[in-house]
Amino acid sequence: MKILLIGAGAREHALGRALRNDPSVSEVFAAPGNPGIAQVATTFEVDMLDGSAVARLATELGVDLVVIGPEAPLVAGVADAVREAGIAVFGPGKEAARLEGSKAFAKQVMADAGVPTAMAHVCMTAAEVEAAMADFGAPHVIKDDGLAAGKGVVVTGDRLAALAHAQGCLGKPGGAIVVEEFLDGPEISLFCLSDGRTVVPLAPAQDFKRLGDGDAGPNTGGMGAYSPLPWAPADLVEQVVERVAQPAVDELARRGTPFVGLLYCGLAMTSRGIRVIEFNARFGDPETQVVLARLDSPLATVLHATATGTLDRIPPLRWSEEAAVTVVLACPGYPEGPTLGSAINGVAEAEQVPGVHVLHAGTVTDDAGALVSAGGRVLSVVGTGADLAVARQRAYEAMTRIDLEGCLFRTDIAAPERLPVG
Ligand code: AMP
Ligand code: GLY
Repeated sequence: MKILLIGAGAREHALGRALRNDPSVSEVFAAPGNPGIAQVATTFEVDMLDGSAVARLATELGVDLVVIGPEAPLVAGVADAVREAGIAVFGPGKEAARLEGSKAFAKQVMADAGVPTAMAHVCMTAAEVEAAMADFGAPHVIKDDGLAAGKGVVVTGDRLAALAHAQGCLGKPGGAIVVEEFLDGPEISLFCLSDGRTVVPLAPAQDFKRLGDGDAGPNTGGMGAYSPLPWAPADLVEQVVERVAQPAVDELARRGTPFVGLLYCGLAMTSRGIRVIEFNARFGDPETQVVLARLDSPLATVLHATATGTLDRIPPLRWSEEAAVTVVLACPGYPEGPTLGSAINGVAEAEQVPGVHVLHAGTVTDDAGALVSAGGRVLSVVGTGADLAVARQRAYEAMTRIDLEGCLFRTDIAAPERLPVG
């Protein structure tokens, strides 16, 4: 099987690495890719938001499957263009991708499907936002309706800060705000494959979204993750499939816009039970880095079955007994104003640590062939081991070998004191 992978982050590097390891895969192509992805795939320049360009490239390369990593091309309809060209694609079409692209749409689907989620009001004016905030009380949860790369949500006890964020989002053309009830309790991410009908869950993971140790600072795209979740109830995955993923997939099928790809369920485990915080229409980053590190089944075969409506025929997924921890290395100034263009050293040395691999996100090679930072999140260092403590120790040992001036990373990813009590 030949595969074209779309994207340029550490998530796509993890996907490319796992696809490459599937014996049924003869070639992996990627666009646009990054220097890490280029180690496991042949890369091409393409505007990944241009559906006809992606479909043309896939046709020219004669691939059997296109795997779309990020949300932006999905929301832009790139999967539809590839499907229309007669090529199997892992990733929902534009309409189903609205589950991620519009929080108001996701709320409507959840209401229609009876999926438990936070109570919410969709607001178009500052006065409506104020009324909704008064209704739910503090802490306030204010969400930009549209895509905002993990930065559209503000959770704060400060009424004025909440209103200021709402004003900023409403100022955009077509701006809408979702004001929500605050959900307490630990958050988990469960990725579910869906071929439009059948749902197959992957292993759950937990992401650390805040920038600083102890969950201080702003929300980011994600600073680290781990899997499995030793504290989680034994029936967690079953519950989420039954109460969340399957009903949502069934509702989209009923609407005639089946969801084919990865349904990312972001959940809060509240005292009143599981609630959906968000749906995404793609693999999460950095959770993918740890989930795929533990997947023993051949990824390309699984994604191809998802894309071709045959998920009910694949054997049960196999998982490694090992744990995985990933720590994200970010540029100074991330997330507001990252400083780019600095030399990165020590990646090869980091990978000498047993059980460690390093995935690239915002990196480029300069004219001299040296590795240089080119994005807010630069690398994802993944450690695996017999348990979380070993995996974590290895990831951090590897991190000490990497050199990027002024870089940031959290020191408490998967630390025992950060794990919820089971
Ligand atoms: P989202 O983009 O919707 O995932 O929100 C980003 C982050 O904001 C989530 O991972 C949570 O940590 C937090 N968050 C979102 N919605 C809520 C909520 N209703 N209650 C508490 N925290 C929330
Ligand atoms: N890790 C959060 C996300 O991918 O949206």
